[in-house]
Amino acid sequence: MNNSLRKLAVLGIAPAVMFSAMSLTAVATAGDKKAEMTGKELAFDRKKGNCLACHQIAGGDMAGNIAPELVAMSARFPDKAKLRAQIWDAQVANPDTLMPPFGKHKILSDKEIDKVVEFISSL
Ligand code: HEC
Repeated sequence: MNNSLRKLAVLGIAPAVMFSAMSLTAVATAGDKKAEMTGKELAFDRKKGNCLACHQIAGGDMAGNIAPELVAMSARFPDKAKLRAQIWDAQVANPDTLMPPFGKHKILSDKEIDKVVEFISSL
């Protein structure tokens, strides 16, 4: 055990560190099956859409509130192409936006964005 680890152990933090390492392994294992993720899973996954970092979405935990809550989306975006464009590159509508350009920067694939659009327009 190196010095810094020993210090952590003294503080009683080591078990917590080991526990989070184990959870990360679990997430990585789950990541191998990403092809089958639903639009909701893609939107909520912290390594995929991570929409909850900024938006409140029904069914999501620990949401941020720096962006509008995603509700009544089929009424607000009756045209799914406009919704898709917003998710693909939010900078077109607002060059100063904080929202990442999910399509343009290939954070999500086209197929993943299609699934997220379906999920969001169902809200
Ligand atoms: C880092 C913060 C952030 C993340 C992550 C984020 N957004 Fe946004 N989003 C925003 C902000 C801020 C706005 C408000 C408009 C603007 O500033 O461009 C917005 C606006 C929107 C809008 C338009 C809402 C309206 O009422 O006009 C939609 C739809 C949307 N986001 C969907 C998503 C989806 C889907 C995801 C996940 C794939 C996502 N956002 C991830 C910050 C974010």
